[in-house]
Parts: sequence; structure tokens; C-alpha cells
Amino acid sequence: MSRVCVHGLGHVGLPTAALLALAGHPVTGHDIAPALVARVNAGASGFAEPGLDALLARVIGSGALRATTCPATAEVHIIAVPTPLAADRRADLSAVWQVAAAIAPLLRGEELVILESTVPVGTTEALAARLPPGVAVAHVPERVLPGRALQELVHNDRVVGGLDQAAASRAATLYRAFVRGALVETDARTAELVKLAENAYRDVNIAFANELAAICERVGVEARHAIALANRHPRVNILSPGTGVGGHCIPVDPWFLAQAAPEDSVLIRAARSVNDAVPQRVLAQIRAACARFPAPRVACLGLAYKPDVEDVRESPAMAVAQALLADGLPVVVSDPFVSEVPQGAVRREAAEAIAGADVVAVLVPHTVFRALDSRLFAGKAVVDPVGLLG
Ligand SMILES: NC(=O)c1ccc[n+]([C@@H]2O[C@H](COP(=O)([O-])OP(=O)(O)OC[C@H]3O[C@@H](n4cnc5c(N)ncnc54)[C@H](O)[C@@H]3O)[C@@H](O)[C@H]2O)c1
Repeated sequence: MSRVCVHGLGHVGLPTAALLALAGHPVTGHDIAPALVARVNAGASGFAEPGLDALLARVIGSGALRATTCPATAEVHIIAVPTPLAADRRADLSAVWQVAAAIAPLLRGEELVILESTVPVGTTEALAARLPPGVAVAHVPERVLPGRALQELVHNDRVVGGLDQAAASRAATLYRAFVRGALVETDARTAELVKLAENAYRDVNIAFANELAAICERVGVEARHAIALANRHPRVNILSPGTGVGGHCIPVDPWFLAQAAPEDSVLIRAARSVNDAVPQRVLAQIRAACARFPAPRVACLGLAYKPDVEDVRESPAMAVAQALLADGLPVVVSDPFVSEVPQGAVRREAAEAIAGADVVAVLVPHTVFRALDSRLFAGKAVVDPVGLLG
């Protein structure tokens, strides 16, 4: 068993650290946030991820995992820190470089360093250049779905990209401790590109659905009905239009691809523009509905960036609610997962929010909303870009 230090105890790093500890590796979790470290050592993740707190209680209780604000010496280092978009739409890799600077003095040259953070092509090579010679370096990107992280960490196939074959093979051996899916070894640049391609693929396909919805609106065709009919073609599978694309992966990662070759990323950049424009189109629909009432009261159903999660990072639904409040409208919001309420809004249960509204905007199709009695919507002006009501 190898001593492992996981840097960054967030949505990716913490479940990974816990599963490695459960598999028998002695694991140190390093994070720069002292409150988070204290919480983890008390057995709590601080975010909603089914099964994670129970797993943490077990591995913290047994001593297999401990969290600290200092990087620890280890045979294997896993880096799972944020890689957000900078203002110039290039990757902000400062947290990765901070970890590299923190661990470089601890390394003797025999260790394995694994970069899990999503990064532009070539970053793993640049990381290796900041570490002592001899250290094996690999990129093993993560593709978990929040809310199903523990299950997907175990059962998803993983791409394991080594800077050389030996690094890929060492990394694959480590993940074999808890991964039941295939561990497919390749080079680091390919692994970097594959991760970005996955999210750009999602973005482009969602953009197609959203663009189709905009065209349907112009020509007076019901978009979801048209898409359902088109999907009867055996080789067509158009996704569902919505309120826009949020979260911190799909709206971000395509830019990492585009930054490598802007002139060859026409489709990827266009998809970003299409998806970024959707909240404005939804807003225009809500404002048009409001114009039918002398003093419109608006209910927004859903604030999260996608169904059945608490995450509001880059959430188009949150942006729509905030824009309506900025218009000076009285806005009631309802989201069973999200405790954060936009400033000036009032939070209510969904049925109550709908009952008190003239205009109902369904912004996120949370599963619980599907159980709402359709009679609640009678007599309301309903804007439903996510197709909750069919
Ligand atoms: N969340 C997902 O579903 C998901 C899926 C695939 C890939 N990713 C990628 O994984 C990476 C991590 O994402 P996340 O969702 O876990 O982020 P997160 O924000 O949930 O957690 C990151 C953690 O890193 C810590 N941190 C920041 N700088 C640090 C440093 N210098 N040293 C130690 N800790 C530091 C933060 O305090 C935070 O706790 C990103 O590159 C992201 O794009 C995320």
C-alpha cells in the first residue's frame, strides 16, 4: 500500500481520498481551507454527495484518512484543485502551480504525481518541469457526475495518461484499488484532450438543441414536440433545450480546447456563444409574459445549474432570477436543494410560490417538481424552457 497525499478536498479530491483510504492506502488530504480541513476531520464533507459523509466517518474514524492544511510527504500525490476560467477565457492554473511549488521540496525523485484537475493540453508536461527529475507524472482526469460521485468513481472507465508508459502503469495500479471500470492507459496529452473533448461534445450538442429551440420559437413550432419527432430517426438523438449551461465544467472546459487553436475551434466557440445567450432569451420570454400584468408577481422554480443538485456555480437559473430582481419585479424562488436565495427574493415551497404568482418560470426540472399538480399552473402565464410541463 502506498502513502497518498490528495491536494484539494473538494467534489473530486475528497471522495477520491476517501475511497483510496477505504481501499487500504494511508491517505493525507491537504487543503488550503482550514475550516474545510476541520470539517473533514470531524467526518463531514460540507456538500451533498450521497454516501460520502458515512464513508468519511468510517475512514476518518479508522485513521486511514486525515486532513491537514500542510502538504505531506507521500509516495503518491494526487492534485485535484480548481482550474477555473481566467478573465481572458484561458485556464487559471495558479492552484496547480501552488501545489507543485508546495510539494517540490518534499519530493525525492521516486514519487508518482497525478494531476486530476481538468487542464489544457500540455499542462502535465509543464507540471513535470516544475518537479524534481525522476518523478513519474500522469494525468488522470475525472468525469464524475455530482450527486453520483461515489458510484461513478468506482464504476466509470478512466483514461490514465502517463508522461511515459511507466507513469501510466503506476497510476493505473493505484486506481485499480477502487475502480471497477476499465483503466485505459495512454499518453498525458491525449488524456488532457479527451477530458476537454468530452465536455466540449456535451456543450456543442446542448447548443444545437438550444439553437433549435430558438428557431422553433421564431417559426411557431413547438420545439420539444419537433425534437421528439426528429429523434424517431434511428440515427438522430437531439438533446433537450433548457435555460442554458451552468456548472464549473461544461461552460469552462471548451475554452481550454479553444485556447490551444482558436482558429480551428469555430464550432466550439460558437456553441459557447449559443449557450451563453440562452438565459437572455428565457428572460425575454418571462418579461413578455410579465407585460400582460399591471403588477406582475413572478415565481422562479429552480435555481441550481441542473436538476437535483444544490450547486449554483455558473447557474443560468440563478442569473435569470437575479436579472428579474434587477428589473424591480417581486420574485419568489423555490428550490428544494439550494439554500442560497438571490438578494431581494423570497423563498417558498413550490406550490405556494406558484399559487402567489402571475408568471411562473420553470428554470430547472428538478424531479420533485414533476410531482406538482398540473392544476396549480391553471390561469398562470407559464414560461417553461426546460419542458417540465411537457
Ligand atoms: N466537480 C466535478 O464534478 C468535476 C468533474 C470532473 C473534473 N473536475 C475538475 O476537478 C478539479 C477540482 O474540481 P472540484 O469540483 O473538486 O473543485 P472544488 O472547488 O470542489 O474543490 C477544490 C478544493 O481545492 C482546494 N484548493 C485550492 N487551492 C489549493 C491549493 N493550492 N492547495 C490545496 N488545496 C487547494 C480548495 O480549497 C477546494 O476545497 C477541477 O479542475 C475541475 O474542473 C470536477
